[in-house]
Amino acid sequence: MTLGDTQHIARMQFVYGGRDEQLDALLSESLAPRSPDFLLELAAPLLTSESRLVDVGCRDARHLIPLAARSGCTGVGIDPVDRNVDRARTAVIAAGLDLRIEIRRGVMEQIEEPDSSVDVVWCRDVLTVVPDLEAGLAEVARVLKPRGAAIIYSVFATSRLEPREAAAFRPLCNVEQNLERARVEGAFEQAGFRIERLEEITTEFREYDEERTQPVSNSLLRLARLRRRREEVIQRFGNDKYDLSEASLHWLAYLLLGKLEPIAYVLRSP
Ligand SMILES: C[S@@+](CC[C@H](N)C(=O)[O-])C[C@H]1O[C@@H](n2cnc3c(N)ncnc32)[C@H](O)[C@@H]1O
Repeated sequence: MTLGDTQHIARMQFVYGGRDEQLDALLSESLAPRSPDFLLELAAPLLTSESRLVDVGCRDARHLIPLAARSGCTGVGIDPVDRNVDRARTAVIAAGLDLRIEIRRGVMEQIEEPDSSVDVVWCRDVLTVVPDLEAGLAEVARVLKPRGAAIIYSVFATSRLEPREAAAFRPLCNVEQNLERARVEGAFEQAGFRIERLEEITTEFREYDEERTQPVSNSLLRLARLRRRREEVIQRFGNDKYDLSEASLHWLAYLLLGKLEPIAYVLRSP
């Protein structure tokens, strides 16, 4: 047997020669990750029944409703997508909050609120799709009262995300520069904000959900099925829909793999 063979067999003994039960046990333990509700907890001390809140990119009001219900605040949710506006309005009425919460079609770059009139801006997972980030942040700064707060959650690319993987997210309408943490933090500063609190979420929200309902496993299973039915999906729904589905089914997995990193900020107006 040659030396190479000896080394190879020694390596095979290491690779296949026995499971490390202690390591297996260690990795089976939950690290008690924070839940996505952590963001609501971050907002809670900033909101009272006297507060005015704006949710920028409110989607179906899934966060605006608990924020308003828990604090008793008044406010408005804005979103540019008609379907989201309709769903948010329906959800706000169903929650019995329509006297306190208004839903409007709108964008971050043009917030229809008077200057210095808002106590808290909530902006969760929106900055990545805002084409003019500087204009959007300038609007947030304009509508906030002095010492007002913006709670911002955004996702950034890490060094684990390869350029080709980043490019594959284009169908999601992400602005690639807005996935750069340093650039976005620079834009906060340029808009006059001070970062009062910064929480690196890393993989915690994804771990929390995965330990309960396995959304990442589910999206990867759907991705495999999508690819195996590629021709049929393209024929029935079109290329654009195929590309969009393929990109969006990677998002949660990339968060859990650490290719994307979410960060939550509390920003303060001067
Ligand atoms: C990833 S979703 C996040 C929705 C919600 N904030 C959440 O956390 O569940 C991004 C949202 O931003 C909205 N959006 C896109 N461009 C926007 C803009 N320029 N200003 C405000 N919202 C925008 C989209 O319609 C969508 O509802």
